[in-house]
This record gives sequence, structure tokens and C-alpha cells, in this order.
Amino acid sequence: MDEYFLSVIMISFMFSLIYILTKWILTKPNCSKRKLLQPPSPPKLPILGNLHQLRPLTHRSFESLGRKYGPVMLLHFGSRPVIVIQSADVAKEDIFAGGTDTASATLAWAMTELLRHPIVMNKLQKEIREILRDKHDVTDNDLEKMHYLKAVVKETLRFHPPIPFLAREAREDVKVMGYEVAGGTMILTNSWAIGRDPASWDEPEKFKPERFLINSSIDFMGLDFELLPFGAGRRRCPGIAFSMANVELVLANLLQKFEWGLPQGIKPEDLDTTENPGGIIHRKNPLFAVATHCYF
Ligand code: HEM
Repeated sequence: MDEYFLSVIMISFMFSLIYILTKWILTKPNCSKRKLLQPPSPPKLPILGNLHQLRPLTHRSFESLGRKYGPVMLLHFGSRPVIVIQSADVAKEDIFAGGTDTASATLAWAMTELLRHPIVMNKLQKEIREILRDKHDVTDNDLEKMHYLKAVVKETLRFHPPIPFLAREAREDVKVMGYEVAGGTMILTNSWAIGRDPASWDEPEKFKPERFLINSSIDFMGLDFELLPFGAGRRRCPGIAFSMANVELVLANLLQKFEWGLPQGIKPEDLDTTENPGGIIHRKNPLFAVATHCYF
């Protein structure tokens, strides 16, 4: 009798094992799909992923796994993929790209719009040159006085936010405009569309920095929800002051010291504004501008 029960248990165990393995193999990604170059990952179990390798002090478990699998590591919390980064170099590459790429995209879009709107360009040059006169070095104090420059930068960020989506995940079930959103749902806020919403903006498809002189209280610090180029809330961009100082300083120098025009035969209204798809929205094609005079 004992032997009979033992064999029943063994057979049930074998069947369960075969069932789990078959399911696991069948749900593995299709081999014919393009394989992503993913970071190294410790072997995972079906259903659990890598959860069984984590202890309550998760940061210590990550660190010890990282010693084996490297500073960028792919783990699975159940079926959810999670990337863990644990090196200053990699963090720098994250943060550095976010900090330089966004500012360079903003500069390229600002110059694009200035070249498309020569009246705005002239007005801005007049402001900058009146404040700087023949001074060569632009200081923080000078930038503070350049209200039109600040309006041009705000309008550029409304019209061309370099990061058009803000991503959040609902931690629990929430209601959004009366709709019920299940916990765990990823929520993408399209700040590009919000910046062009006629419900918030007068003539949103026009590049008009003057709108920020008339209503100068609207800012991009995350409290005015119609203008969110840097996001809002706890995950708002921490680099606002740094990037604004960079963008304003470069623009003030470029416009004080050079006259700008377009290559022969290109009219301002024909200037290409095609966007390149990606996490940060750059111009698709490089901007060609001609510096005709130089005042040093
Ligand atoms: C024009 C320039 C920049 C723009 C438009 C920009 C925009 C953004 C946006 C939209 C986010 C996401 C915010 C959210 O989800 O609410 C973000 C996050 C971030 N930005 Fe910037 N950024 C710029 C420059 C910089 C600079 C210069 C740095 C650092 C030196 C920087 C560092 C970061 C970091 C570390 C985060 C992640 C914050 C977190 O997840 O808690 N950014 N940025």
C-alpha cells in the first residue's frame, strides 16, 4: 500500500514538473524575433523570476548579484523586468546624456525657431546687445535682466519639449477624470500635446514668446500644468537651473556676437523642422545656419 501511494505521489510530481517546464518553454520569447542586447541577468525561475535570489535587505542582494553580473543588470520581479544600475560611471552616462542631450536639443530648436522668425531674432538681439553693450562676458546678472530671452526659451520648451512624455506607474487603483485605472498601469503624460492644447494656449501652433511677457507668471517649475517640459512632482527634473543657465548663456553669446541667416535659397518659412523619433526629440536633420558678421 505504501509503495502504491509513493508511486502515485511520484507520478503526480513528474506530471506537474513536465507541465511547468512545457509552459515555461512555450512562453519563452520566440527565437525568430530580433534578440535584444540585454544586460547580463542571473538565471530566473518561472513565475518567481529572480525574487528567490533577493533577501529582505534588497540593496545588499543587488550589490552581491552585481559583483557577479556587472554594474548594469537585468532582474525579473516575477514577470516584470527591472534594470539595476550600480556604478558611478553608468549613472554618470545616464545623467550626463539626460543633461547634455536635452540642453543641446533645446538650443537647436531655439535657433531653428529664431531663424524661422526673424522679427523675434531681431528683438532678442536688440535686448541682449542693449544689456551687454560692448561687454564680452555674459554674467548671471545680465541674464536676469534679459526677460525676452527667458520668454524665447520658455516658448521653445513649450513648442519643442525635448522629453515629450512623463512616465509614472499607478501604485494602486486610482480614478482619473472619473475613469478607473488599475494599480500597476503605466501612465504616460504627453507634455508635448499639453503644450499645444488650445484649451490652455492662445494660437498654440504659433511661436510667440510674447505670450510669456503678457502672462509672465507661467513657469516651467512644475506648478503650472500647462507647461511641463521638466515634469512635475517628486520626480521633476533636478537639472532645471543648470540647464537654463547653459541654454541662456549660449544663446546670449551666439546672438550678441553674430548675425545669423539661412543658407542661400532657403526661406525662413521653408526651414526644415522634422523631428527625430526617440526618447529625446532632436531635429532629424542638422541645422545649417550662416553667421554673417562677428562682433568680438
Ligand atoms: C533643457 C534641459 C532639460 C530638460 C528639458 C529636462 C527634462 C526632464 C524631464 C521631463 C524629466 C522627467 C521628469 C518627470 O518625470 O517628472 C527629467 C528628469 C531628470 N533630469 Fe532633466 N532635463 C533637462 C536637463 C537636465 C540636466 C542638465 C540634468 C543634470 C545635470 C538633468 C537631470 C535629470 C535627472 C537626474 C532626472 C531624473 C529625475 C528622477 O527620476 O527623479 N536634466 N528631465
